[in-house]
Amino acid sequence: MSQAEDDGSTRRDFLYYATAGAGVVTVGAAAWPLVNQMNPSADVQALSTIFVDVGGLEPGMQLTVNFLGKPVFIRRRTQEEIEAARAIDVSDLSIDRESRNPNKPGTDASDQNRTMDEAGEWLVMEGVCTHLGCVPLGDGAGDFNAWFCPCHGSHYDTAGRIRRGPAPENMHIPVAEFIDDTTIQLG
Ligand code: FES
Repeated sequence: MSQAEDDGSTRRDFLYYATAGAGVVTVGAAAWPLVNQMNPSADVQALSTIFVDVGGLEPGMQLTVNFLGKPVFIRRRTQEEIEAARAIDVSDLSIDRESRNPNKPGTDASDQNRTMDEAGEWLVMEGVCTHLGCVPLGDGAGDFNAWFCPCHGSHYDTAGRIRRGPAPENMHIPVAEFIDDTTIQLG
């Protein structure tokens, strides 16, 4: 990973957390101190459904929310990212060809089966490397200009599919749906 990639991932990623009780995450809400991510209170852990306002996300922006104790990446992809993901045929995927998407169970890992909307702008997935559970770096990192797990060198593409390295599966997608134009329900 180059220094530039490292800088980009820290500068442009946005990190927010669900607030206890409300179950709502709004872009622009105050971020909790990092220590709270490491030690979430019991009521936050227990929230099985949260609503995320993504109205403020422009293409190329990513929101990370803490859901059921795991980071969830919500990315509004650029046209370039969509095209890169859709240029890949499922047969080109040498490590994992399953969508890992409970919203489309049993489907293959085509980009269309990984994204929330038909146009493919919205990708929502658990930000957990399927090797040993590190949180991959995002925003153009790694050999596929998407996500890279520095723990042991796993490279994911712009659809969150594992393309190189020891991770055995594509990053998993949580149960998620748009309940209106700008709100995603997780869980
Ligand atoms: S935990 Fe990600 S490569 Fe090992």
